[in-house]
This record gives sequence, structure tokens and C-alpha cells, in this order.
Amino acid sequence: MNNFISVKDVTDINSLAKKALDYKADPRKDLHLGANKRIGLLFLNPSMRTRLSTQLAAGNLGMEAIVFNVGQDGWSLEFEDEAIMSGTTVEHVKDAAPILGNYFDILGIRTFPSLKNKEDDYNELYIKQFIKYAGIPVVSLESATVHPLQSLTDIITIKESFREKRKPKIVLTWAPHVKALPQCVANSFSQWINAWGEADFVITHPEDYELDKQFTQGASIILDQDEALKNADFVYVKNWSTFTDYGKIYCNDPEWMLTNQKLNLTNNAKVMHCLPVRRNVELSDEILDGPNSIVTQQASNRVWAAQAVLAEILKK
Ligand code: CP
Repeated sequence: MNNFISVKDVTDINSLAKKALDYKADPRKDLHLGANKRIGLLFLNPSMRTRLSTQLAAGNLGMEAIVFNVGQDGWSLEFEDEAIMSGTTVEHVKDAAPILGNYFDILGIRTFPSLKNKEDDYNELYIKQFIKYAGIPVVSLESATVHPLQSLTDIITIKESFREKRKPKIVLTWAPHVKALPQCVANSFSQWINAWGEADFVITHPEDYELDKQFTQGASIILDQDEALKNADFVYVKNWSTFTDYGKIYCNDPEWMLTNQKLNLTNNAKVMHCLPVRRNVELSDEILDGPNSIVTQQASNRVWAAQAVLAEILKK
């Protein structure tokens, strides 16, 4: 593996998931793999789970991890080639990234989308510029359109939670929110579940919240949430803003929030969410505090997904 930007960088999802679960069973078995190596973790946006789990994963491989909150502590970066930098940006990625490439062996980058310019966001300018100019492997810690470390974690969590000899039914459901959020987690989850190919996959959302087809192709789209939830083994809850009329909130109907009454339609489904979650807006207390929620297990598995990915890059 050279970079880890999306599922397209993975040749065998099951094999990578197995490596992650092997690390869960024996976290320090490759403690010397990353000896004398450093990873730089650059955050242009906030994070708790991604930041801490990747640091822990690097530590389990004997790597030094250095976190840099570019958004708070660093110079504001320019990403457009040939920009005339007379505005607010202070340093061009073309100048900063090669230095980071000399400081580190691997670079992790978190960059959220603007949600203002669909073309720029969906071209993944920021992460592509880091790949172009850093000269070392780049790991996405969530980019403008996808969150691959989260999605690998999600598959690991589904695999360890489902023991039946049949395909699970997985439902990704839109949920209400007070802010316009990126489509990243929903895009990425859809892309990984479709690429994995070992589930009956349904996406449900209100009209006007359709995701980019490049990620959802292979899934069944059912606009009636109750219909979609029937016999689900897993329900993945997530808000996203509109894709077509980009970055907007249209419907914000609280009826779309998952409750125990809705859960009764499912096959006693496990409930997932990437976190952070707005309680009683996006997901009800009764679900989050109830026996079907696996959100803590899911977030805890972030360490093993990150460790498997870093190990693959280090081995290369
Ligand atoms: N799920 C996730 O990426 O969490 P953080 O934003 O806290 O990293």
C-alpha cells in the first residue's frame, strides 16, 4: 500500500480487516515494525477519535507520532497552484509539504470539505496536493469526500458482531442534524460496503438527500425509512447535507431519528454511528444507551484499523 486515501488503495478488504482484528487480539505483536519511524498527523479540522486512535496505533507499532493542529497552530495553507497569495493564506502546500516529507516517514491528513464548492471538494484538492508535494505515503484521516479509516473500522465491527452464515442486511439511514455536515462518512461507508460485497445494502434518506452515485452504486435506495429498516441486522445512522444542491439542509424532519419503536422493525439490529453524535437530534438516548448500540465498540476499533493500515504502509 502506497497511500491510504480510499477503498481503491486496498486490494483485499477481508485480509486487511483480519489484520486489524489480529492486532486487536495482540496489539504489540509488531512493536518493532515502526522502530525509528515517525508519522506526522496534520489536523486542519477538529478530531478526537481519529487523532487519538492513530497515535495509539502508531505507538503499538513502535512509531513516534507527532500531532500538528494546522487549523489552530499552523500557518494557513494555500492549495491552489499558481495562486497569488495576497489574501489570508500564508504558506503554500508546495513549500510546506516537502518539509513534512523530510520530517516524517508517513503523513496523515484531516481536511474537511468547504461544502461551498462541490467541484473543488469532490476533486479532493487538499489531499491530492499533499500527495503531490510531500513525497511520502499519505493516509487520509478524513478528507473532503471520504473517511476510509472509519469505513475500515465499520467493516471490522460488522464482521466481529455478525456470526451467522448468511449475508447481513445493512441499512445506512440519514438522520436529522442542526448543521450542514459533509457527505464523507456516508459516501465512504457506501463505497466500502459495496466494494466488500458481502452484505445486502440499503440506503434510506429523505428526498433531495441522494449521495453521489459513484459511491452508492450497488446499494438499494429506499426513500421510505420504515420499509428500509425491515429485517435489518445493522443500522448505520448518519446525517449528511445535500449533494445535488450542494451543502444544504432541506428536510430536517425529527421523525427520521432512530427510536426503539423504529428498531422494532429490524432484526434486532445493532446500531452504529461514527461519533460524535448529537443526542436526541441525530440519535435518541434510548438507542445510544440501549443494548443494541455498538458505537463504543465501533469507536474503540478505530485503533486496530489504523494499525493495520500503518503496518501495510510500513511493510511496503
Ligand atoms: N469518527 C471520527 O472521525 O471521530 P473524530 O472526528 O473525533 O476523529
